[in-house]
Amino acid sequence: MADGAKKAVLSGMRPTGRLHVGHLVGALDNWVKLQDAYHCYFFVADWHALTTHYADTGSITDDTIQMVIDWLAAGLDPTKATIFLQSSVPEHAELHLLFSMITPLGWLERVPSYKEQREQLRDRDLGTYGFLGYPLLQAADILIYRAQYVPVGEDQVPHVELTREIARRFNLTYKKVFPEPEALLTAMPRVPGLDGRRMSKSLGNTIQLGDEPEVIRQKISTMLTDPQRIRRSDPGRPEICPVFGFHRLFSSADVIARVDRECRGAEIGCVDCKKLMADHLIPALEPIHERRRVFEARPETVWGILQEGSRKASRVARATLRAARKAMKLTYPWEGRGRKGASPVAKS
Ligand code: TRP
Ligand code: SF4
Repeated sequence: MADGAKKAVLSGMRPTGRLHVGHLVGALDNWVKLQDAYHCYFFVADWHALTTHYADTGSITDDTIQMVIDWLAAGLDPTKATIFLQSSVPEHAELHLLFSMITPLGWLERVPSYKEQREQLRDRDLGTYGFLGYPLLQAADILIYRAQYVPVGEDQVPHVELTREIARRFNLTYKKVFPEPEALLTAMPRVPGLDGRRMSKSLGNTIQLGDEPEVIRQKISTMLTDPQRIRRSDPGRPEICPVFGFHRLFSSADVIARVDRECRGAEIGCVDCKKLMADHLIPALEPIHERRRVFEARPETVWGILQEGSRKASRVARATLRAARKAMKLTYPWEGRGRKGASPVAKS
């Protein structure tokens, strides 16, 4: 590869089915930008889904394809980024196993999401080996591509931090194989949901990327506004209103300024304000919507993209794994006579 100087970026999402505007603004728009500047790996973390949903696996394949359709609709391009499925690159599992040998249990028990999620998801037994290992599998996901940057939300920073510690420990115990990756925290605007809380599938307050314009209008009409603005003549507080939050994200600068002024001065009613917001949001989502329809009609194309991406990812993953095994002196006589240039690791 001639452009070996380009750094690698990796990120993944658990298969959650159709995505919403929060995913678009919080992650996908950023991924689409990154794919032009870096070697990007974006993957469906289906094994990670099993750590919490091991008992109900029935929707994983459909959730996977629906999510990937949204990725492609948002502009991820398989000719630029490697888009793949975690479980189709089983090298992740081998690296996870090798890492498990050098990972103190305390490091995993200390990860904040471990305790939090176990408390939040009390309806299932998360006292499992797999769930404790969640962040270690994530470390393997990242390090197997020797990724330098990991675009993620704030909540994932402890996982990237653990990944750095694992890389360091491996490098010190054996030999330098892994870089220490950094989280890429973009200034992610908080996207309010219909009820003013953070937009989230589990809260049922989302606008999905695949929603039809009429559905979007209907949802917006139910949206929370400034609760103290009871009568049309009451002045409003745009800064606490989720409708205004959307204006900020999707309307033009002069519309934003006008709504801000007219809301405070009780010159615009909430019904009109919402209509105006829908008039900006719907056209912004229209190209995504259109591409979504195209991919939805061709699931075999979408699966093909994942399969081909997984093949590409596998090649890179295999080379890293070879380097890791070699560093651990796990090489045997019947190996290592593979193709020339199979290991990209510089001899040291
Ligand atoms: N844990 C991430 C999430 O819940 C998903 C994920 C799995 C991931 N492996 C990753 C993200 C590797 C970045 C890098 O959002
Ligand atoms: Fe919110 Fe707009 Fe109503 Fe002001 S006018 S409270 S910004 S919906």
